Amino acid sequence: VAGLTNLETKLGEVTGLAMAAQAATAKVLALAKADGESELEKKLQLMHDEASETENRCTDLAGEFDGKKTAILEEARSTKAKGAEMMKTYLDSDSDSLDGFEFLTMAEAGEVGHWSVLQAMSKTAHPRVVELVEWALPIQHRHLKEVMTASIDLAADEDPDETA
Ligand SMILES: [Fe+2]
Repeated sequence: VAGLTNLETKLGEVTGLAMAAQAATAKVLALAKADGESELEKKLQLMHDEASETENRCTDLAGEFDGKKTAILEEARSTKAKGAEMMKTYLDSDSDSLDGFEFLTMAEAGEVGHWSVLQAMSKTAHPRVVELVEWALPIQHRHLKEVMTASIDLAADEDPDETA
C-alpha cells in the first residue's frame, strides 16, 4: 500500500494474519468437531479468541499512526485475502483434522515469523509497537507449539499403512 513505512506495512501484515487466523481456526474447529476431537476444540477456540484480541489490539495501535489507519487496514485486508486463498488451495472437501492442523502449522509459523520481523523493526523508536510485540509474540510461539503437537498426536493415531 502506497504511503506506508516498512514498519506500518508490517503492522498491517500481522493484523491481516490475525484476521486470517480467525478464519483458519474456525475452519479447523469444524474439521475437529467432525472428527470428534473434542479436546482439541477448546484449544482452537482459545486460539480463535486470541486472534480476535490480536486484531483488536493491532487496529487500536494502527489508529495511533496519524492519518495512516485506513492504509494500514487496507494492507491487513490484502494479507487476509492471501491467507484465505492459501487456505482454499490447501484444504478441500477431503481434508480431515490432521490436514487442518498441518495447515495451521504453516499459518502459525507465518505469524511467528512476521511478529519477529516487526519486533526487529520496532526496536527503541516505537515503544507502543514494542509493547504489542511483547504481548503477541509469546502467544504466537505457543500457538505454533500447540498446532505442531496436535498434528503429531493426530498422526500417531493413524495407521501408516492404511489407504489414505
Ligand atoms: Fe496464532
